[in-house]
Amino acid sequence: MHSERGEAWGVVTAGVHGLGRAISERLAADGLSVMATTRHPGAASAAWAAGVSEQSGVLVRVVAWDPARPDSDAGVLERLRQDAQAVRVLVNNAGPFHRRRQPLADVAPEALAQLWEGNVAGGMRLTQQLLPWLRARGDGRIVNLGCVGSGAASGWTGRGAYAAAKAAVASLTRTWALEEAPYGITANMVCPSDVHARDKERADFGRHRPHGADVAELVAFFAGPGSRFVTGQVVEMAFGDRPRLKPGERTLSPAADLLPQGAQVRLARESEIYEVVDVRTEGAAVEYLVRPPVGEPRWVAGSRVRRLVGSSPP
Ligand SMILES: NC(=O)c1ccc[n+]([C@@H]2O[C@H](COP(=O)([O-])OP(=O)(O)OC[C@H]3O[C@@H](n4cnc5c(N)ncnc54)[C@H](OP(=O)(O)O)[C@@H]3O)[C@@H](O)[C@H]2O)c1
Repeated sequence: MHSERGEAWGVVTAGVHGLGRAISERLAADGLSVMATTRHPGAASAAWAAGVSEQSGVLVRVVAWDPARPDSDAGVLERLRQDAQAVRVLVNNAGPFHRRRQPLADVAPEALAQLWEGNVAGGMRLTQQLLPWLRARGDGRIVNLGCVGSGAASGWTGRGAYAAAKAAVASLTRTWALEEAPYGITANMVCPSDVHARDKERADFGRHRPHGADVAELVAFFAGPGSRFVTGQVVEMAFGDRPRLKPGERTLSPAADLLPQGAQVRLARESEIYEVVDVRTEGAAVEYLVRPPVGEPRWVAGSRVRRLVGSSPP
């Protein structure tokens, strides 16, 4: 909770729909005035902003901004000059994703450019331009959105261009943290695993699978005063949304690294510990050659493989 309710502002890119909406609403509830960007402002987004404003008691504004269009930056700065005395938080949430899996070999330059501009370049530009505001107060916060695996620059079969863009954002996050520390600014990254489309804008916490509110909770922590000594962190929210997961294990999520040779694993519906001998991929499909304690190795689908956390090699 922020003490000077409404005085300081938070800017949330793509903050009107999806996870961005849950984040905007949460920051407003915490007492930040919110500037939510969208590429397509209109009556519906204005009505939403008015509703959040009424409920939270802080100002909520919608402003046009497109990460792929540098000429749209000026509009955000102009609106801030009009409405805000101080900007304390920037949440770089905008981040296009390509739902269709595609091997890197087939990714068109235009698609790569869209992922790069939307996830990396736009946020980098806006951060640069808001730095004077963030520095001025001595307690600025930058929160970037990544995905599972971003911090380790993991490969992701069929989604390599998106994964690479988010890995770049993780690196930027860490450099912002280093370079802006003298100004009291922290920079951290929140990396959720999959949030169902219908759950992104939900303001309640998901019991068995994540809702937007769960992601917003961690963003709010990094945006709030309690995280002032936490910076440069890339934090995964790999939700416990897989009911067969046992303590000490995690499923091989598509965003995780391919398992290395020698990793110890368990297979779904089996209790034996196997060792990974080899891996093969075709398009989006991953298969592992796993060796049981006794007997011959066999190929199994990656979706059946649960890594034993802490097994070696890391
Ligand atoms: N949902 C998940 O499961 C998940 C998992 C891991 C990471 N993330 C990350 O969390 C952030 C928000 O995700 P989300 O699922 O809420 O996103 P989303 O539903 O795909 O999109 C949310 C908003 O982002 C803007 N957007 C979409 N495509 C864009 C493009 N090509 N260029 C610029 N803006 C675009 C749109 O806002 P306007 O049309 O209003 O401009 C859209 O309403 C992203 O950075 C995403 O990579 C999400």
